[in-house]
Amino acid sequence: MLTELLLLNGPNLGILGRREPDIYGTETLADIEQMVSDEVAGHGWKVVARQHDCEGEMIRTVQDHYDAVGAIVNPGALMIAGWGLRDALANYPRPWIEVHLSNVWAREQFRHQSILGSLASGVIFGLGAIGYRLAARALLPRAES
Ligand code: DQA
Repeated sequence: MLTELLLLNGPNLGILGRREPDIYGTETLADIEQMVSDEVAGHGWKVVARQHDCEGEMIRTVQDHYDAVGAIVNPGALMIAGWGLRDALANYPRPWIEVHLSNVWAREQFRHQSILGSLASGVIFGLGAIGYRLAARALLPRAES
């Protein structure tokens, strides 16, 4: 539905708040979902929030939401080698923004690549939970045009 914004989070993001809080912060995924909902509510958008630990479920969710206004996606570690998810997002017809809570460039070398980023309208790294809010704000004009 063209009033729904897909907020899709990947593996290990369901435990935000108690997952390495020094890296990922203390906000829970529910806090983030509320923050994004608050950001877009004034535009009549409703957030459809999904979190999956398995790549196949991520792919299915992307396929099932072609009629969303757009998407915010934190793929977690699937950014590194989630080729199936990449194929799904390559066919996604709506604008979407990739978000990562942490600044992966300041972390282990194996995190320094996203195979998804070149498909996104934009990417946000390292701003913590507020990155999701900024992604929602950035998506508004792109999805409405
Ligand atoms: C993450 C960064 C990834 O490297 C990591 O695997 C995650 C979280 C982030 O939001 O900072 O699961 O996507």
